Amino acid sequence: MMNGYISVSNLEKEYVTASREIVHALTEINFEIAEGEFISVVGPSGCGKSTLLKILGGLLAKTSGTCTLKNTPIDGPRNDVGIVFQDPVLLLWRNVLQNTMLPAEILGLDAKKTLPRAHDLIKLVGLDGFEDKYPHELSGGMRQRNAIIRALIHDPNVLLMDEPFGALDAMTREQMNLELQRIWLESKKTVFFITHSIPEAVFLGDRVIVMTPRPGRISEIITVDIPRPRSLSTMGDEMFVELTQRIRNLLYVEGSLD
Ligand SMILES: Nc1ncnc2c1ncn2[C@@H]1O[C@H](COP(=O)(O)OP(=O)(O)OP(=O)(O)O)[C@@H](O)[C@H]1O
Ligand SMILES: [Mg+2]
Repeated sequence: MMNGYISVSNLEKEYVTASREIVHALTEINFEIAEGEFISVVGPSGCGKSTLLKILGGLLAKTSGTCTLKNTPIDGPRNDVGIVFQDPVLLLWRNVLQNTMLPAEILGLDAKKTLPRAHDLIKLVGLDGFEDKYPHELSGGMRQRNAIIRALIHDPNVLLMDEPFGALDAMTREQMNLELQRIWLESKKTVFFITHSIPEAVFLGDRVIVMTPRPGRISEIITVDIPRPRSLSTMGDEMFVELTQRIRNLLYVEGSLD
C-alpha cells in the first residue's frame, strides 16, 4: 500500500561510469513521508544520499522501483518541489533579490505576485538591506540563506535540502537550524533534509532515516518524539542525547562513520 505524500518503494539505482563500470548506489529503498513531515537523512559519505534526493527531485532517473509524490510518479522536475543543493549555486552576476527570483522567472510566474513574496522571504531570513548585494559581497551563511529562500520563492510544497549547512561554522549553523525550524513551523512544508551532523538531524527531524554504506540501504528510521519548537538547550535533554547516541551506534555498527 502506497499512501504517503511521498512514497518510495523497492528503489534501486545503478550508475554506469564512463569506463562502463556499474556503481550500485541505492538498493531496496522503501519509505513513506507524510505531508508536512520533516525527514532528516544521515549516512556515510558515498552511501547515495544525494542520489536519492536527485531522484526525488526528478533530476535523475532511477534504475527500478517506484517513487511517487501525491500519488503521481516522479519522472521529471516539478513546480511543487524546491531544491537546495550541496553547494549554494547562486548566479554570481545576480544580486540577492535577483537570485531569489530566479525560479519564479524560469517558471514564468507573475512578478507582481512573486516580488512581494521575495521581499517577505528576504526579511524572514534577515537579508533585508542586502537585496542589491552580489554573492561575493555576502558571508557563507548569507549565501546559504539566499539559496534557501530561492528554493521557497515559488512556494513549493516539498523542500529537498542536500547538506545545506555543511560549509558553515558551528555557530552560524546552529542559527540556521533554528531559522529552518522556524520557517518549517510557519510554512508546514514537507522537508527531506540530508546532513552529516547527527545532532542536526535529530534537532530538526520528525524522523531520521539512517543509511548504510554503499550500496545505500535504509538501516533504520528513528522517530524523534521531542516537542517543538525545539531550542538549542534541547540538545542537552536526555532524550536528545539518547537518540543521537543510538544513531551514532547504528552508524558505527555499519562500520561507516567517517
Ligand atoms: N554520475 C555518477 N556516475 C557514477 N557514479 C556516481 C555518480 N554520482 C554518484 N556516483 C556514485 O554513487 C555513490 C553515491 O553517491 P552520492 O553522491 O549519492 O553519495 P552521498 O551519500 O551524497 O555522499 P556525500 O555524503 O559525500 O555527499 C558514490 O559511490 C558515488 O561515487
Ligand atoms: Mg551528497
